Amino acid sequence: MNDDRKDQDRRLWASGSYPRIARLVEPMGCDLVELAGVRPGMRVLDVATGTGNAAIPAALAGAVVTAVDLTPEMFAVARSRADAAGVQVDWVEADAEDLPYDDDSFDVVLSAIGVMFAPDHDRAASELVRVCRPGGTIALANWTPDGYGGAFFELLAGHAPPPHSGTLPPTAWGDPEHVTELLGGHVDALSCRRRVLDLDFTGSPEELFETYRSSFGPVLAVRARLADDPARLAAFDRDLLGFLRHENLDPDGDPSQGRYRFEYLAVTATRSDRAVSRPSR
Ligand SMILES: C[S@@+](CC[C@H](N)C(=O)[O-])C[C@H]1O[C@@H](n2cnc3c(N)ncnc32)[C@H](O)[C@@H]1O
Repeated sequence: MNDDRKDQDRRLWASGSYPRIARLVEPMGCDLVELAGVRPGMRVLDVATGTGNAAIPAALAGAVVTAVDLTPEMFAVARSRADAAGVQVDWVEADAEDLPYDDDSFDVVLSAIGVMFAPDHDRAASELVRVCRPGGTIALANWTPDGYGGAFFELLAGHAPPPHSGTLPPTAWGDPEHVTELLGGHVDALSCRRRVLDLDFTGSPEELFETYRSSFGPVLAVRARLADDPARLAAFDRDLLGFLRHENLDPDGDPSQGRYRFEYLAVTATRSDRAVSRPSR
């Protein structure tokens, strides 16, 4: 994948304030660490770690944790969270499609709604497998195409298609068939389970809308692409707010408290001992 695309992705994720969004999905990282069976002394890699939602609970479980992300701007918050939790994590700037580690380096490879955003799904999947030792565990949490995350990203793409065509949407990683195609040849005991994260947002749908609009890179990117066309920009804002009102599970409840259900595909697999080599560039 060319470097321009990666620069654009890096700028997108560095824009706004992803740490505000990361707080909303924090329990998913803990869930993933539990599903992966992380234990003291294991060598764990968290891919596309953001502010460390999976890396920090893995370190709290006693693992030796390395966390990579394309966007080093995430690491200031990640470091202060790790300090506050009293754990050590090695934070490394790296592309999920080209991990700077030898084959079989880790006992567990995790990614919470992270690797799904790398554009070349095959390359990223090969890298997850390559750096995991045979018998080790790969565990992923991916938004499902038909859950909240799928509808959210579809709405964004509907208003301003991403500039790079020809790549599958990130939420394809939430489809068990696609995950089986990506990983199936190199893993055993592949399991895909739908799980939910219930979010009690301490604010109204209007406040969640403002949070996305001020903080979430993918929303900022769509709004930037529509900036020259006020009518389309207004239509996007209207539809996003309409979506958040529609998705609120308790529209007749406390108007200052939105309730949302985020569905994700929890993938766990055991790396087989069939060889895998680094994808060529
Ligand atoms: C939705 S955030 C998830 C972050 C974190 N895992 C969490 O649970 O909050 C997606 C993350 O993927 C990172 N990312 C996007 N493309 C990447 C790539 N090609 N390689 C590594 N990280 C990438 C972004 O910088 C961002 O931190």
